[in-house]
Amino acid sequence: MMKKKLAMAVAGIMVIGLLTGCGGKTTETQEPVTEQEASAGEENDVQEPGGGVDSSSTGEGLIGVSMPTQSLQRWNQDGDNLNKFLTEMGYEVDLQYADNEVPTQVSQIENMITKNAKVLIIAPVDGGALSAVLSEAKEAGITVIAHDRFITGTQDVDCVGTFDNAKVGALQGQYIVDALDLENAEGPFNLEIVAGSLDDDNAAYFLGGAMEILQPYIDSGKLVVRSGQTTREQCATEAWQTDVAQARMDNILTAYYTTERLDAVLCSNDSTSLGAQSALKSAGYGTEDLPFPVLTGQDCDIANVKAIIAGEQSMSVFKDTRALAEVIAQMADTFVKGGEPEYNDTETYNNGAKVVPAYALDPIVVTKDNYKEVLIDSGYYTEDELK
Ligand code: BGC
Repeated sequence: MMKKKLAMAVAGIMVIGLLTGCGGKTTETQEPVTEQEASAGEENDVQEPGGGVDSSSTGEGLIGVSMPTQSLQRWNQDGDNLNKFLTEMGYEVDLQYADNEVPTQVSQIENMITKNAKVLIIAPVDGGALSAVLSEAKEAGITVIAHDRFITGTQDVDCVGTFDNAKVGALQGQYIVDALDLENAEGPFNLEIVAGSLDDDNAAYFLGGAMEILQPYIDSGKLVVRSGQTTREQCATEAWQTDVAQARMDNILTAYYTTERLDAVLCSNDSTSLGAQSALKSAGYGTEDLPFPVLTGQDCDIANVKAIIAGEQSMSVFKDTRALAEVIAQMADTFVKGGEPEYNDTETYNNGAKVVPAYALDPIVVTKDNYKEVLIDSGYYTEDELK
């Protein structure tokens, strides 16, 4: 039922996307705009810290949207899309980015509570660090929706809208299996792993989903991780930063691959994949004699889609931020109107304090072969943005 409605909603978004692109930017922010964001062709209305919309203004009321950072393209798109859908529904939106800092996010949320927000939509910097401020929100009668990233260790989260994160990892793992033809090829092949931030619960699901596919090949010796680094802790990339991923991959290449060649890198997302790509280029990869290894990603950031087109990255996993924003805006609106949103998973999202009802969207593999269809035909990007 919800699936059908959602398919219609997504089709609707595709049409809106075709007509308008990804929407204008009315972001209130305290963070600098990055190169990556600038390349997405968007504008910012920068507002001073502490500024924001007044909850007493007209319309359906205030909704607080707390995003982790503007340094990654996707959160800018998430913020823009939420802002667009909620504004169209008649809400005032207080959209804030936390510069990847927990204290900043907490004080921004406190500010939203003070301003009598009706709903808080939060993509946490650290999913386990919001219990105290969310208990304040609950006391004030405010609904809390986790956006994309799970919020753990608290009763005070009402629902989560996300993508099937284990499936994201499984798609990445399966891509490596198919690209190296692990079922038939003799091997062995060398693999390294670049995972996400330890404070992001999603990162565990990405890696878990991928390793479920890849571990049997590591166990049988067909895949060899020469660095020996396979645990989440060993492969983590603090705050998903490109330069952190690059530095770790530089070290791995220097220590383990002076005579051996790297055949595949499992990168959990696009920002870490960019870091791995820079390290590989510095080590001489990207030539006829030494081609790029099979390299995964996630998000379909513009820089990475360009890398896919250029043959430097093999694939990314597309998570349509328009569809997620639509689902979450509908959840918020339903709560404000006294209803209960429809979910497609009421069993698996256990945050350690309760099972949180969820709506999880489906991720899609994007490669050189289908990027036009998935990203351009749907209006997510224009052809020019990918040049
Ligand atoms: C999101 C990914 C994103 C990563 C880094 C994760 O929680 O699900 O889409 O690449 O954070 O921001």
